Amino acid sequence: MRILIPDAQFLDDAEIERAAAGAGVTFEVHRATRETEVPEESWRACDAVICYHVIQYRGPWLDWLERCKVIVRAGVGFDNIDVDMAAARGIPVCNVPDYGTTDVADHAIAMMMTLTRGVASYDEHLRADPVGGWRFEKPPLVRRMRGLTFGVVGLGRIGTAAALRARAFGMDVLFYDPALPTGTELSFGFQRTNSLADLMSRSDIVSLHCPLTGTTRGMINAEALAAAKPGQILVNTARGAVVDLDALHAALKDGKLGGAALDVLPVEPAEPDHPLIRAWAAREPWIAGRLLLSPHAAFYSPSSIVDLRRKSAETAIAALAGAPINRVNDARVKA
Ligand code: NAI
Repeated sequence: MRILIPDAQFLDDAEIERAAAGAGVTFEVHRATRETEVPEESWRACDAVICYHVIQYRGPWLDWLERCKVIVRAGVGFDNIDVDMAAARGIPVCNVPDYGTTDVADHAIAMMMTLTRGVASYDEHLRADPVGGWRFEKPPLVRRMRGLTFGVVGLGRIGTAAALRARAFGMDVLFYDPALPTGTELSFGFQRTNSLADLMSRSDIVSLHCPLTGTTRGMINAEALAAAKPGQILVNTARGAVVDLDALHAALKDGKLGGAALDVLPVEPAEPDHPLIRAWAAREPWIAGRLLLSPHAAFYSPSSIVDLRRKSAETAIAALAGAPINRVNDARVKA
């Protein structure tokens, strides 16, 4: 069996994957940014692909995958794969949904707390002036967590883990997730709303945990932000394109939104010329202490990477053995 890893996000020669897959499996590892940087023959010859987020799996070139019996997305979000197009070619697409659930939830809470407890602001003021910066009132968003409303968009694995953490801080949890069955709110003891606008208007913190889909792309736009509770903090560890960055810029600039913490951006890495990124990088006074960025790192910990790589290989092997797990596309598979 030949497993192709076209856009590997690790530096070794697939040691973890080889150990997980066992004997009789060969790995071919590339660090490509486009499909054409991998020889066409490699695509044609592979039995499985383990892919990261760099290459876009859409377009007629998917016909090259003539032997391929599974595409494993080494990650949770599979928005870089046309899963219907893969299904039409009889190729199951499987993700690895559980390698970093707690890491992402921890990161969302850490970003929230960095703003609401002023952690980064204090550090910045003190570094600039260790004596004059010794002041507790400088950060703009410090507030008591207990009693605030933590609004979750997408109460799935990560959203639930984040909500449980927020509740441990004494926050009230409100969620919006149209796909969940009636009564989910009772199981968790959270409040539920059936409208995004209602969630926006009642939440002190909004944390995004939905996938990027046709429905969620640009969901946090000018209209949604107009409904936001004044002073709200938006945390996005989901996907950058769920948020309209221009609308976010306007909402922060006019003071409607208190702050934002973004692990993900519509274009990654950040576009230095976007007005919001430029203002943040230049430390313009109006944005100081109100915008926090991290480099799509919410999933990351040394432990999560090991889990991701091992589980990716196990998922490929399961599919090659005829029993795919965590399939995210149509059930039709190659015989
Ligand atoms: P999940 O599938 O368990 O949960 C997603 C939830 O969003 C589901 O309950 C679903 O019903 C809900 N949802 C779907 N459409 C919605 C809509 N229009 N409005 C509100 N809710 C909606 O997924 P999981 O594991 O919790 O991951 C969530 C997302 O987090 C992934 O899709 C991925 O994009 C992102 N992610 C980001 C990482 C990072 O490093 N920043 C790492 C891992 C995942």
